[in-house]
Amino acid sequence: MKKEITFTLNNEKVVVEVDPKWTLLYFLRNIMEMTGTKEGCGYGECGACTVIVDGQAINSCIYPVLEAEGRKIVTIEGLMAKNGELDPLQKAFVDEGAVQCGFCIPGMIMSSKALLDEKEKPTEDEIKESIEGNLCRCTGYVKIIDAIKSVAGGR
Ligand code: FES
Ligand code: FES
Repeated sequence: MKKEITFTLNNEKVVVEVDPKWTLLYFLRNIMEMTGTKEGCGYGECGACTVIVDGQAINSCIYPVLEAEGRKIVTIEGLMAKNGELDPLQKAFVDEGAVQCGFCIPGMIMSSKALLDEKEKPTEDEIKESIEGNLCRCTGYVKIIDAIKSVAGGR
């Protein structure tokens, strides 16, 4: 039986009936049609599905949608300004050439955004830790870290 939940998604209040069996990832991609959040492994290992919940980067593929009740959720779609301007992190990934196939990038950006929102000037080790749960099958880690470093402290 479906259950009504209320939460904030990319600064908009959402009141919706959900199936308790759904994950947050399933809800975002299939009900909200927000396909920026990717499904890689589907069991919490690759980070492609990372979104920010109450300031923390989480794997939405293993996060029950019912847990969203009352929370503040931000997805990659929520980063761009209303006038279409990219978030500085998104821009940095483009400028640094950090995007290859792009599949891991929304997750990489959400993980590093959670870090930068909490700490304006993280160390390189902290940057690496923030994305240690995000796998890039194109192995573009050096440029990804360069992109995050270029924003750290500059916002
Ligand atoms: S799809 Fe969620 S961690 Fe891989
Ligand atoms: S850019 Fe292809 S998986 Fe990371």
